[in-house]
Amino acid sequence: MPPRWTLDKKILLGVSGGIAAYKTPELVRTWIKSGAEVEIILTDTAARLVSPLTLSTLSKRRAWRDEDLTSDEHGWTIPHITLGGWADALVVAPCTANVLRMAASGDSGTLLGAAMLACHAPKIFFPAMNSHMWANPAAKANAQLLRERGCRVIDPDSGALACGYEGEGRLPSIETIVDETWFSLCPLRDLEGKKVLVTAGPTREYIDPVRFISNPSSGRMGYALASEARYRGGDVTLVSGPVSLRAPSGVKIINVTTAREMLDACMAELAGADLIIKAAAVGDYRAVNYSGQKIKRASGPMTLELAQNDDIAHAIGRAKSPGQILVGFAAETENIRENALKKIEAKRLDMVVANNVSDGAGFGSPFSDVEIHFAGGRGLSPVYVSGDKWEAASGILDAAVTLFRMK
Ligand code: CTP
Repeated sequence: MPPRWTLDKKILLGVSGGIAAYKTPELVRTWIKSGAEVEIILTDTAARLVSPLTLSTLSKRRAWRDEDLTSDEHGWTIPHITLGGWADALVVAPCTANVLRMAASGDSGTLLGAAMLACHAPKIFFPAMNSHMWANPAAKANAQLLRERGCRVIDPDSGALACGYEGEGRLPSIETIVDETWFSLCPLRDLEGKKVLVTAGPTREYIDPVRFISNPSSGRMGYALASEARYRGGDVTLVSGPVSLRAPSGVKIINVTTAREMLDACMAELAGADLIIKAAAVGDYRAVNYSGQKIKRASGPMTLELAQNDDIAHAIGRAKSPGQILVGFAAETENIRENALKKIEAKRLDMVVANNVSDGAGFGSPFSDVEIHFAGGRGLSPVYVSGDKWEAASGILDAAVTLFRMK
């Protein structure tokens, strides 16, 4: 599930006649499942590529068509004005070269064109077309004009196109479209201008080519933090251990495996970071002797000699400059507050997010029960957040913003 603030958001989706229109039912379904309300306008060509009935069934509303612009069926209500005024955001996906031109030139000859003109909400365009059409200066100029007017035009993905070409022109994934919509709709922008470095997931320390020491961290907390920080305007870099999560859109991702790789990536990104959040469950030990070949079963017990990994948070705590805020986590099974406060001191953290991981709680679970403690001297009382990872992420970022305001 996405963050709670996405609930009840009103999204006006314009579907134009590119082959990628066949993907829009899944897009609508994803928004509806998140609690958003969706109104849909299809161009006539789009209605030949994707069924209006499918879209209206999923959105539980009628799917508006070009003919509704001039139909007298609606009495005194004027569909393009009503829809344009209703929306919290207007998303055009896929956006053909023609609809891009219409938007740029203010062509109001169709219901979608008129609604785009009448709508004052943030507008996001997802062009999808043949790569030569997208590369054409005419299309590029229309995209540029819309950007200059404050609209967001998201560059298409590269890859195999339905027309048989290979190149830039694919509609981005549903997840990307959804992420970019939430970014436009996020009610907070309090991390704008801030560079945020987040670590997430477990690390792996290989013993031989097929075996490693690790932990069950899913990475969900760090990924929720990275997404939410980006929605709130942050310039986010996510250093991630091996997880099975999708990289959030608009976030720079650096994939690592071992604690040493994570340390190197963090140190390389540290300069310029305003906020560093160490949500990764870093392995404290690695095998002293890595076997290049698979270790064969031998008779009797086996002893594995381990060496300590560097503590990344500790290293950052020593290297950070006064303006940088360092947030650590404390996964504890007992004496949570006491152990968390010790970590603030030992690692020179500005704040620590402590959670109880006894019985495996917190690891892999979608729910978090966290307490946030601040370094002494600022007179800040602890903050307790309980809910899903999004609520925990919001609470953690709120606390970090409080620290920024006090600096
Ligand atoms: N951490 C780190 N590098 C390590 C170990 C931990 O950066 N080698 C960071 C974690 O990302 C987290 C914080 O330190 O933000 C605390 O991690 P945790 O596993 O709770 O504690 P440890 O410091 O490893 O101490 P202990 O295992 O003894 O509780």
